Amino acid sequence: MSDDIVRIFDTTLRDGEQSPGCSMNLPEKLSLARQLEKLGVDVIEAGFPIASEGDFESVQAVARELRETSVCGLARTGREDVERAVRALEPAVRPRVHTFIATSDIHLKHKLRMSREQVLEEVDRAVRQARGFCDDVEFSAEDATRSDWEYLVQVFDTAVAAGATTCNVPDTVGYTTPSEYAALIGHLKENVQGADRVTFSVHCHNDLGLAVANSLAAVQAGARQIECTVNGIGERAGNTSTEEVVMAIKTRRDVFAGVDTAIRTTEIYPSSRLLSSIIGVPVQPNKAVVGANAFAHEAGIHQDGVLKAPITYEIMTPESIGRASNELVMGKHSGRHAFRERLLELGYELEDEEFQRAFKRFKDLADAKKTIFNEDLEAIVSDSVVATDDRFSLGDMVISSGTFPTPSATVQLLVDEEPRKTTALGVGPVDALFKAITELTDTKCELIRYQVHAVTAGLDALGEVSVTVSEDGRRVIGHGAHEDVLVASAKAYVHAINKLEWHKRRHQLGEPTGI
Ligand code: KIV
Ligand code: ZN
Repeated sequence: MSDDIVRIFDTTLRDGEQSPGCSMNLPEKLSLARQLEKLGVDVIEAGFPIASEGDFESVQAVARELRETSVCGLARTGREDVERAVRALEPAVRPRVHTFIATSDIHLKHKLRMSREQVLEEVDRAVRQARGFCDDVEFSAEDATRSDWEYLVQVFDTAVAAGATTCNVPDTVGYTTPSEYAALIGHLKENVQGADRVTFSVHCHNDLGLAVANSLAAVQAGARQIECTVNGIGERAGNTSTEEVVMAIKTRRDVFAGVDTAIRTTEIYPSSRLLSSIIGVPVQPNKAVVGANAFAHEAGIHQDGVLKAPITYEIMTPESIGRASNELVMGKHSGRHAFRERLLELGYELEDEEFQRAFKRFKDLADAKKTIFNEDLEAIVSDSVVATDDRFSLGDMVISSGTFPTPSATVQLLVDEEPRKTTALGVGPVDALFKAITELTDTKCELIRYQVHAVTAGLDALGEVSVTVSEDGRRVIGHGAHEDVLVASAKAYVHAINKLEWHKRRHQLGEPTGI
């Protein structure tokens, strides 16, 4: 790999997925993995195979699916851990085993209860075991930024001598600062034996809001792999955000000594949207690069400048991250062909049945809403890409609510293709609606979170609802979008219940579900 290229190691499916509210099932992980391959990440860390049967199956499934991107499985240094990762990665065209152990005295004393010498033995043994399976082995010194620097040199000396090809220096607790981290990377590059034969990698957590700054400082000090996640999701305050580091390097190549990444930046926005729609966690509006307001110029003086010359206030364009400018794109006279073309421009290639569903939703929306924005189309797509073997599908519904009568909802559902109808009362319209759906589906799930947000500005905006439910310790998220937020709510709730049904059916058949 050229020294001018910074590898992007995506850990959305591992470090990202293990954070609360971000779990994904197997089909969701596969669809995100395909999108990450399209985005052009160099390595996808698909999971931690020993953590659970579901994790093992996910890593195996991603390994089977991807032909270009390296697929990585995480393992502690234990023999069995490494063995599980190796087994899960067997179908991969480009497998990478990633093994790690903590190296700070704090972790050695309180967590591992091991001596420094014992840790060195573990590093040597695990890396050699992994190298017995593949040539691409990454070693991580967990809590590296709170480890003794000289000991860290010994740890990486050992890893490199045992055959590690990537040395990762995690800021596990988000503690370091840009100058300190850059100095540490410089120290390791200078002092680790064989440093010129390996890639130094960085993995930052965002506890102090410094993950992106720390990763970029490390690149300036010679690191050539960044571990990151889409939308910055991850443990606690999250990980380094992929879109931010990639766009910083691209926009400021002058500062980053001409280095670049292999990312197709026009896939950044579709990746962000896909992840949000899968996990039901919207991106904060002021989030750099992918937030709703990232390219919105509100102040008059800015608008004036941008109209005269975009360079006055725009350092990158929305188009460069795959975000078409937010203009009216389609109307009710637009046909199938134009609709398909527009979706392709936005990065969506739908299967025939999904396309037909999306087109019908588009036509219905165009009848109800004058202006259709790209965000509306994206919401329609994520609403239309649903499993075809759903047990429940929403039919008609009527809601009555207000200040005087007790709110009620009459809902019709197809249950195993049989129509069923019921009416329920509730403290509010959503409560009544969910009670009716609960009765028709006979679900025992508990509602954990209900979120609604407008996809675009304007009173006729589409409402996007995500609903988190839990049953028998399994949490799933359902989504729905519609110009009527109550219909969107019903869709989201039915979607979540269908997901739980899918898990139950797979469980009964003894098949893995990915969580
Ligand atoms: O934060 C961390 O230290 C990790 C390692 C497993 C790389 O996620
Ligand atoms: Zn981490």
